[in-house]
Amino acid sequence: MPTDPKTEPLRFAYWVPNVSGGLVTSTIEQRTDWSFEYNRKLARIAERGGFDYALSQVRYTASYGAEYQHESTSFSLALLLATERLKLIAAVHPGLWHPGVLAKWVATADHLSNGRVAVNIVSGWFKDEFRQLGEPWLEHDERYRRTAEYLQALVKYWTEDDAQFAGDFYRIRDFTLKPKPLSWPGRPHPEIFQGGNSAAARFNGGHYSDWYFSNGKDFDGVTEQLEDLKAHAADAGRATPPRFGLNGFVIVRDTEKEAKDTLREIVDKAHVEAVKGFRDAVQQAGPSTSDKKGMWADSSFEDLVQYNDGFRTQLIGTPEQVAERIIAYRKLGVDLILGGFLHYHEDVEAFGRDVIPIVRELEVENGLDASAVPDPQAGLSDKDPELTAAAA
Ligand SMILES: Cc1cc2nc3c(=O)[nH]c(=O)nc-3n(C[C@H](O)[C@H](O)[C@H](O)COP(=O)(O)O)c2cc1C
Repeated sequence: MPTDPKTEPLRFAYWVPNVSGGLVTSTIEQRTDWSFEYNRKLARIAERGGFDYALSQVRYTASYGAEYQHESTSFSLALLLATERLKLIAAVHPGLWHPGVLAKWVATADHLSNGRVAVNIVSGWFKDEFRQLGEPWLEHDERYRRTAEYLQALVKYWTEDDAQFAGDFYRIRDFTLKPKPLSWPGRPHPEIFQGGNSAAARFNGGHYSDWYFSNGKDFDGVTEQLEDLKAHAADAGRATPPRFGLNGFVIVRDTEKEAKDTLREIVDKAHVEAVKGFRDAVQQAGPSTSDKKGMWADSSFEDLVQYNDGFRTQLIGTPEQVAERIIAYRKLGVDLILGGFLHYHEDVEAFGRDVIPIVRELEVENGLDASAVPDPQAGLSDKDPELTAAAA
């Protein structure tokens, strides 16, 4: 169900930098590291700053300059065990992970983390990755047909005894998962996100996902995707469309000029060969569809320097400007902002300190009731000497 802006606050997530090279394909200095130690501290900074979720990336081999990659599910579990409230969204490709194996992994991770695990099911764009791993590469809409079965199978594993499923790609015969993941009212099973924006992805989002993730978009782009999701959810007989998460690369500085200068420097120092290589690889995604609605179908070179079109969301400016733009997206129906950052420790901490509080004030001012927002620090261990030292 989408969050009701009148009764529920906007949620915040960040991209876990579990691949090397940061979130922009640029030679600009990025004080971001892909190591576990760096990420452990980052996750703790983020949950104290009011972030609800962290999304890890799945990548098996280098692309867009990301030479090294930590595996998504194991990294997510390690971060869950290092945090107290943050939810970790682990990304998985159908075609490389069997849904029953993922269902089992999630059930265990959910028990270990007290119900804080979620998954992002990504249909994939990187043909060479599958080719090098020796797995078949399906054409675009077949990938999504397989994902549709995957999403249905996952829910069956998590919620049914003697589960049955007969699909073209997956079958379940009298299977009972024990233990099941944790569940409670409002959370019948771990949350399912899906990444992908094509017509096929929208169909799957509207029919089978709890959350739909959008690449970076302006207001019109968000509205257009929301309309499609509503129509699909209605077709599927769902009372409401999935919740909507929007990617945006965040550059918050004291002045608008500083923020814009940083964006210019990122783009001027783009790693041209890596961005071009990425542009070639993503021809397998949105550009390969007939209606060209999917991701990267109309991305410029500049857009691709942040490989999820994050500049298009324009979360670039002073804390007030960025907070106001976030509220404008909230009014359109965005339920979650997924942020990427240049210097993760510093920028995530500053976002929690300088931007989220303004968003909360504006929610109240705009009749978007933020009273359900928990105090970001409530319930967390009193002191974290490591973070106090990091902030000093
Ligand atoms: C928020 C978000 C996160 C994604 N994360 C990954 C990822 O970690 N690994 C990956 O291979 N693809 C990822 N994708 C891309 C999807 O696999 C898919 O290829 C892409 O969305 C293109 O789909 P489309 O043709 O339906 O637009 C992600 C997409 C979104 C929107």
